Amino acid sequence: MNDVLYFNGRWTNTGERLLGVEDRGFQFGDAIYEVFKFLQRRPIFLADHYRRMDHGLREIDIPNPWSEDDFSAIIDELLGRTQFADGIVYVQVSRGESERTHFYPQGMKPTALAYTRSFRFPDAARKERGIRVVTTPDLRWKHCDVKSVNLLPNALAKKRAQSAKAEEALLVDDGIVREGASSSFFAVRGGRVITHPLDEHILPGVVRDRVIGLAIGAKIRVDERPLRETELLVLDEAFITSTTMGVMPVTELDGRVIGNSRGGEITNRLQQLFDALELSEVSAAHGPIA
Ligand code: PDD
Repeated sequence: MNDVLYFNGRWTNTGERLLGVEDRGFQFGDAIYEVFKFLQRRPIFLADHYRRMDHGLREIDIPNPWSEDDFSAIIDELLGRTQFADGIVYVQVSRGESERTHFYPQGMKPTALAYTRSFRFPDAARKERGIRVVTTPDLRWKHCDVKSVNLLPNALAKKRAQSAKAEEALLVDDGIVREGASSSFFAVRGGRVITHPLDEHILPGVVRDRVIGLAIGAKIRVDERPLRETELLVLDEAFITSTTMGVMPVTELDGRVIGNSRGGEITNRLQQLFDALELSEVSAAHGPIA
């Protein structure tokens, strides 16, 4: 099925071939992307995604084609035109199209697109079962706080995980566990939650940020500090977070079972709190219930 696509100011669907071969997103990975979820045609944490995209565009010197209001109006229209109520939106802004040369000209017109996709979010059984992960070297560039489309190292790491019958790869660099190939990573030890601090080594995950807030609100201590790979051998619980997976327990790590093959107590608590927060976003967007 073709999905509804907004492309440079007009509406079409993903069946139409649109991108010029000299688009810099295609040739140089010169582009930023975002992925967010929608439920009942309501975008979840839209403002957070807009802010992160705006930050990324600034960092790589691409003008943001949208004000926050324009962006929100386009997303409303996109979701209104979409046949299904729940799914994900993929947004991409590239520097645009010009004759191929490393030096990019000033004043280029960005290529801006957004489309909806249906998505099977994890059901209750999967959220309880959790996922297997394997560690793999982090081969990414040195500006991982920018959500650039240069995802080759991530894709290769994911493939490696899949070959090992795992669902996510944990990226390790310099003996430090950074994050998942497409998720943030959390460990739990002695009742404390540990996750990598925000810096150039990780993406500032939207769900990561919300989960930290929920943990603090629930009086669970959060240590934002680098986690050594060796600490993976002594953790009590682990989980990943992302837009598509929410809070997902890690129940096997490099072939070792964590806990009792189910999410641990703190992981489950945060999973419940996060699911409730997501749902409250939907009802808040629908306005107060009379
Ligand atoms: N990935 N770290 C990386 C490297 C990611 O690619 C993602 C998200 C995250 C989690 O970010 P958030 O909580 O904002 O989804 C962390 C998306 C889902 C993707 O690439 O499809």
